[in-house]
Amino acid sequence: MHASDIEGDLTEVLVTESEIHAKLAELARRIEADYEGRDLLLVGVLKGAVMVMADLARELRPHLNMDWMAVSSYGTGTQSSGVVKILKDLDTDLTGRDVLIVEDIIDSGLTLSWLLENLRSRGAASVEVCALLRKPDAAKVEVDVRYLGFDIPNQFVVGYGLDYAERYRNLRDVAILAPHVYS
Ligand code: XMP
Ligand code: MG
Repeated sequence: MHASDIEGDLTEVLVTESEIHAKLAELARRIEADYEGRDLLLVGVLKGAVMVMADLARELRPHLNMDWMAVSSYGTGTQSSGVVKILKDLDTDLTGRDVLIVEDIIDSGLTLSWLLENLRSRGAASVEVCALLRKPDAAKVEVDVRYLGFDIPNQFVVGYGLDYAERYRNLRDVAILAPHVYS
């Protein structure tokens, strides 16, 4: 497969790889300052957050732990169902832990608000959110995001971990998916 095969499926690059890396470095400095002297547990939401987790975690200098959850709210389409199911739970006991959820994107906010409530009910000392992308115009519920990368328009985006039907996760940039691909 050639690069041009993928590029024809995209209408516009929204956030480049280097913009992402610069932003994650900036967020990492804030996180280090905010959590100084505490043991941080990063909880990545599979599969979309894999790239954010990998790059953010390597920007952070102190010791930390990483764990993963898989939830489903979307299937293979482009619309949130609002129904969240745990496909893979954490291995870590959250009692007394400082938890930072690492997400790729907040769309309606339904997945994250459900996740926040779920993790907070497990006795964590704190639960905060770091999300690379947010679509403010798509919000159905307000989610308090402590660390945010970029606000983007309400369009379906792929790349840097984000997929459409499990493709495009390997794109280095975040780009708008051309409507002809899914319509
Ligand atoms: P909600 O609507 O619950 O959705 O905030 C969050 C989850 O939906 C997926 N999502 C996207 N995936 N391009 C994607 O590849 C998008 O534009 C997009 N919008 C939402 C994503 O898995 C996220 O965790
Ligand atoms: Mg997805």
